[in-house]
Amino acid sequence: KMSSFTKPPVRVAVTGAAGAIGYALIFRVASGQMLGADHPVILHLIEVPQVEANLKGVKMELDDCAFPTLKGVVCTSDLEVGFGDCEYAMLVGAKPRGPGMERSDLLKDNGKIFTGQGKALSAAAKPSCKVLVVGNPANTNALIAAHNSKNIPFENFTAMTRLDHNRALTQIAQKAKCDVEDIDKFCVWGNHSPTMYPDLSHATIKGTPAKQVINDESWIKNEFYPTVQKRGAAVIDARKASSAASAANGALEHIRDWALGTGGKWTSMGVVSDDTYGLQKGLIYSYPVTCANGVWTKVTGLPVDQHSHDMMQHTLNELVQERDMVKDML
Ligand code: NAD
Ligand code: LMR
Repeated sequence: KMSSFTKPPVRVAVTGAAGAIGYALIFRVASGQMLGADHPVILHLIEVPQVEANLKGVKMELDDCAFPTLKGVVCTSDLEVGFGDCEYAMLVGAKPRGPGMERSDLLKDNGKIFTGQGKALSAAAKPSCKVLVVGNPANTNALIAAHNSKNIPFENFTAMTRLDHNRALTQIAQKAKCDVEDIDKFCVWGNHSPTMYPDLSHATIKGTPAKQVINDESWIKNEFYPTVQKRGAAVIDARKASSAASAANGALEHIRDWALGTGGKWTSMGVVSDDTYGLQKGLIYSYPVTCANGVWTKVTGLPVDQHSHDMMQHTLNELVQERDMVKDML
């Protein structure tokens, strides 16, 4: 039978597919919300062996949705099968933190997952595979995966700060009494951790500088920064489990925008750092980016005042420390 789609199906791998984020993510990917309703997908769902039975149940539910865009589901705990010929890999599978922990406390347990996954991606995925790391600590896990994956360019390894970006947009919109879509040129710099820098210095609201519209320095420093920086912990305290649907949404929007473009608007992505803006090369650091034609591009040439410089260095220093903790995995 002739398919109603002109595009060939694209293989999308998701690790931790039976977990909380995975469950909130894969139905949306299957329904075409990530790569477009005109783009069929084959899902590669990867779990640890102990969870493969649950994963079968998730596949039954995917079947039961009868999504026209879903052309196949592979369930596996074998990484090379899981990443085989994939064009996108969403690395979600990892332990979440509990109350009182920092994300970097997960590094010893979670870091080693990403050496094996980097190697398997290198061996089995398309060399053009676009990789998003969601599992925490996301930036340093992405660095580990990138270092272990010789056949895929470093630029293809990214970490998720889109959830932080989206959290900030709503805080700004509520304060400024505007729509989230009125905001542009906002970005998150650095680590997905409490040291991140949610930067309002370039942001605009309907073209007017956001700081001028908000006109409240004390709110920016004493409410906006800590609310965005510590939102993950606040959700864990309230929900007794870490953000799942909002994290899945951030992951979906990260890949959607990377694949389909941002139309000139800024977003935030953890990508390989360079030595502009007084930073250091070779870390996975969140930058303002625009995306077009399947490629992310950093926003360059921004003026950086002393406050921004200090904030950007502080979060850089934490990433340097995290990298030093996992030197043996790089
Ligand atoms: P969860 O415990 O509900 O699910 C994780 C799933 O991953 C489990 O089903 C587990 O079996 C699976 N898994 C573990 N190790 C695996 C491996 N090596 N290969 C394949 N699958 C594996 O956790 P969750 O709430 O879905 O969170 C997943 C991760 O995402 C956590 O590390 C969490 O901290 C992180 N997270 C990141 C962000 C972000 O903004 N970057 C946001 C929210 C959560
Ligand atoms: C988040 O930001 O919600 C996630 O990174 C989960 C966490 O540990 O905070």
